Amino acid sequence: MPARMALTVRRACDDDKAFIESLGLATALETVSSLRDMTESAARQAFRRLLTFCRERAGTVTFLAEDEGRPVGFVILLTDLPDDVTQTAQAFIAYIAVLKEHRGRGVGRMLLRTVVEESRRHNLPHIALMVSADNPRARRLYESEGFVAERVLMTRRVPAAGTSRT
Ligand SMILES: CC(C)(COP(=O)(O)OP(=O)(O)OC[C@H]1O[C@@H](n2cnc3c(N)ncnc32)[C@H](O)[C@@H]1OP(=O)(O)O)[C@@H](O)C(=O)NCCC(=O)NCCS
Repeated sequence: MPARMALTVRRACDDDKAFIESLGLATALETVSSLRDMTESAARQAFRRLLTFCRERAGTVTFLAEDEGRPVGFVILLTDLPDDVTQTAQAFIAYIAVLKEHRGRGVGRMLLRTVVEESRRHNLPHIALMVSADNPRARRLYESEGFVAERVLMTRRVPAAGTSRT
């Protein structure tokens, strides 16, 4: 593995839109749990919708990670969307991704620390995110940065009509 070069994080600008969209689309299926029978194309479509939703919100902040000036990852943070259940103020990580060949070198961690700092700047008392239970790499990273499970989304399959009931 090459030594870590000059890793930096800055706010994304309009010129970064193509990179963000392309990395988001490339990683879309990786973020979906194996419980959902989702096609690559449906996952990409869902990412496009998420991106549109985020871009329409005034409180969205996007950060770009660069290695020697080349983009390697990004994180999208929502700062104006309260927690759905309690309606309390919080920041929410809508999406985080790092290029495959740059993973495991601290880029994701650096992006996370940046959004925690940004949330503090906005005086938001919490920062939340959703992660699939079967995404161990992301979960381990979040846990090591202080995230804990607060609620659990429980899902089960519904048998198709005409099949046995379990
Ligand atoms: C999740 C993701 C953003 C992490 O980015 P990253 O740059 O690889 O993260 P880091 O290098 O900062 O990760 C560090 C931690 O992740 C964990 N990690 C890294 N590689 C791992 C692996 N192969 N298996 C398990 N955990 C791993 C470790 O806890 C590691 O900490 P350490 O370096 O102290 O051992 C990246 O894997 C990714 O883009 N995944 C696809 C998109 C995605 O799943 N996004 C999250 C949706 S919620």
